[in-house]
Amino acid sequence: MRIFREKDYDAMSRRAAVIIAGEITHNPACVLGLATGSTPEGAYKYLVDWHRQKLVSFRNVRSVNLDEYVGLAPDHDQSYRYFMQSNLFDHVDIIPEHTQVPDGLTQDPKAFCDEYDAYIRSLGYVDMQLLGIGRNGHIGFNEPGDCFVKETHVVDLAESTIDANARFFASRDDVPKQAISMGMGAIMGAKKVLLCASGEEKAEAIYNSVCGPITPKCPGSILQLHKNVVLVADEAALCKLIAAGVIA
Ligand code: F6R
Repeated sequence: MRIFREKDYDAMSRRAAVIIAGEITHNPACVLGLATGSTPEGAYKYLVDWHRQKLVSFRNVRSVNLDEYVGLAPDHDQSYRYFMQSNLFDHVDIIPEHTQVPDGLTQDPKAFCDEYDAYIRSLGYVDMQLLGIGRNGHIGFNEPGDCFVKETHVVDLAESTIDANARFFASRDDVPKQAISMGMGAIMGAKKVLLCASGEEKAEAIYNSVCGPITPKCPGSILQLHKNVVLVADEAALCKLIAAGVIA
């Protein structure tokens, strides 16, 4: 695993955006696995800015997103489709049909999840998978549990995830209790993984993912088995690794 130690959120965002733009430059028809949430917002801003300056084009890029809340329509302002449109897709030249976000309103989740995995396989898997991480170590919405789930699936969100995401909703009761998430098969099938983290509240999850036992109790720990992971994090998120002398 290569680790980039960045000063703060902005430096983390810029580094992540440089890596993503580099992937697109080397492989203009790449498949990007994309994430939502606070962590990638800054990187998306840099990418939009560089697109406006004609430094990067998404014309031939395809994207698949990690997850979506069950029950939220694409135009709900807290849906992950809405997040992607407003933070990235509406501001770059990606072809709308080339973007995929799980359908939170599907009437047949099992069939939908199977199709999502089949689509990812048909693309030859993802070239670069962008990941944030939950305070409990979740990646995508693969929550801590007794086993790693391979396929795209419907997840019951952990209480800690509902607590963490309540900040985006009018009240905690409005946070959906379930999501559709890509499974570990698609994440681990990605040729490269770009894991990003910012803030001290992520320090334990990052430490456990990098140095802890590989266990579904900390889903991010599975990344120790992936051969091409880059971790870009700020000093706050890396503080436990720094304190333990794992990185300088
Ligand atoms: C989002 C996702 C989640 C988030 C994680 C961290 O698509 O898959 O795993 O990356 O919950 O969220 P933030 O970045 O808001 O702290």
